Amino acid sequence: MPTYDFTLNGQSVTVEAPADMPLLWVLRDKLGITGPKYGCGVGVCRACTCHLDGAAFAACQLNMGDLPPGASVTTIEGLATNGVLHPVQQAWIDCDVAQCGFCQAGQIMAAAALLASKPRPTDSDIDTIENVCRCGSYFRIRQAIKKAAGV
Ligand code: FES
Ligand code: FES
Repeated sequence: MPTYDFTLNGQSVTVEAPADMPLLWVLRDKLGITGPKYGCGVGVCRACTCHLDGAAFAACQLNMGDLPPGASVTTIEGLATNGVLHPVQQAWIDCDVAQCGFCQAGQIMAAAALLASKPRPTDSDIDTIENVCRCGSYFRIRQAIKKAAGV
């Protein structure tokens, strides 16, 4: 079985996995990183959203064989720095966004990536986030993104 080296939440990791195994499976089942959730497995719900070299991506849609060499993967577990929550995480708490919570790690990762590229997002920028929330927490998600952005 091939071996893959990459950076996960700031730490170097080495993992053995079949080339056609999605990264989401490796994160959850081999590395014990359970923040990214399995929802649809086909790239629609975005519950598995992580960052690959700073950009949001669906971890269920990236097979290990396609992981770029030297990739840096960040999950919700690695979003806080030195024990300080990311502004998006803090805004999520302040706005009491979560309902069942299943989609929320992916929502936060999508929002953090959006703010990294657009620090003062418009409503239409926020609308580009495609993560699905079956509980319908979209109104509070929008509020929290604006709070984190200070807009
Ligand atoms: S589980 Fe990855 S997009 Fe749904
Ligand atoms: S909070 Fe339940 S699916 Fe989003």
